[in-house]
Amino acid sequence: MNKTSFITQLLQACNKTPIKPSATVYAPANIALVKYWGKRDNELNLPVTSSLSISLADKGTSTTLSVAHQAADEVFLNGEKLTAVSPFVTRLLSFLDLFRPRKDFYFRIETISTVPIAAGLASSASGFAALVLALNDWLGWALDLQSLSLLARMGSGSAARSLWHGFVMWQGGERDDGMDSFAYSLSYQWPSLRLGLLIHSTAEKHMSSRDGMIQTVQTSPLYTAWPAVVARDLSLVEQALIQQNFTQLGETAEANALTMHATALAARPCVCYSTPQTWDIVHTVWRCRAQGLEVYFTQDAGPNIKLIFLEKDEAMIRANFPTVDVVVPFIQDYQ
Ligand code: PMV
Repeated sequence: MNKTSFITQLLQACNKTPIKPSATVYAPANIALVKYWGKRDNELNLPVTSSLSISLADKGTSTTLSVAHQAADEVFLNGEKLTAVSPFVTRLLSFLDLFRPRKDFYFRIETISTVPIAAGLASSASGFAALVLALNDWLGWALDLQSLSLLARMGSGSAARSLWHGFVMWQGGERDDGMDSFAYSLSYQWPSLRLGLLIHSTAEKHMSSRDGMIQTVQTSPLYTAWPAVVARDLSLVEQALIQQNFTQLGETAEANALTMHATALAARPCVCYSTPQTWDIVHTVWRCRAQGLEVYFTQDAGPNIKLIFLEKDEAMIRANFPTVDVVVPFIQDYQ
């Protein structure tokens, strides 16, 4: 099955043209505690495994959709008009092509992002989730979140998880048509949990997660071990959430990220997202932990590190990582 037939099937009964002048929506970025790394279907973004994430509250993407003022699509990022040749625009427009009601219909997309684009900080996840939510609102689809998760997945796999705040599970599914590969919200709350973003590089990553995954699945001799690692880590993380066992949560998330990067490093040629600064930060995390400060890290398809810690340690975290941007995933407005 290709993307177009998947979307045609999902949108069969849906309206194709706008029901109002514009729609504005917000979607949070998310960070996987148990990673998605590897597709079983590259066209439909079907993952080899399930994955589990936490959303980043006010770090995300706000998108407004309306009809373009001219006979061409218009894309604005943080108020600046982007040219059609940038990889960000090309990816966005080829996704929107799937929903274009007719050839001479042009979109105006205004996006405000509070996370750096393509620095491995899940900006594509919140970007595609916001786009799908905006389409749903603007075109009056009235689809449920499960169907919107299926649609967001077509833009970027991890976008399937960005429709909710808090903890989210993306079930990998088994069907070839991908209709059972969607995310859903987990009801566990953890108000004292904190995430810390350490952004030492906002440069575009040298290899997209898509290409990195393909290369890892096809060539890494370690990849065969990955699905079993994920299955075990998913149950350890869920158990940690139920028991509010922070040590188990942190240890599992950190080990899962390291295993993901180990499988990628073993690809031929190797897929490496870390820089010397990445390792400096990782060693600082390990040093802090050896000295009794309970902090863990995770890392996605980019060089930046995200810390996982508890509210009580925030002052010590700030002292050891002065540039940290602290995220409070469970705050009143987002629960
Ligand atoms: O959704 P993508 O194609 O950007 O892939 C995301 C991959 C990781 O961020 C490394 C892991 C994850 O589960 O988010």
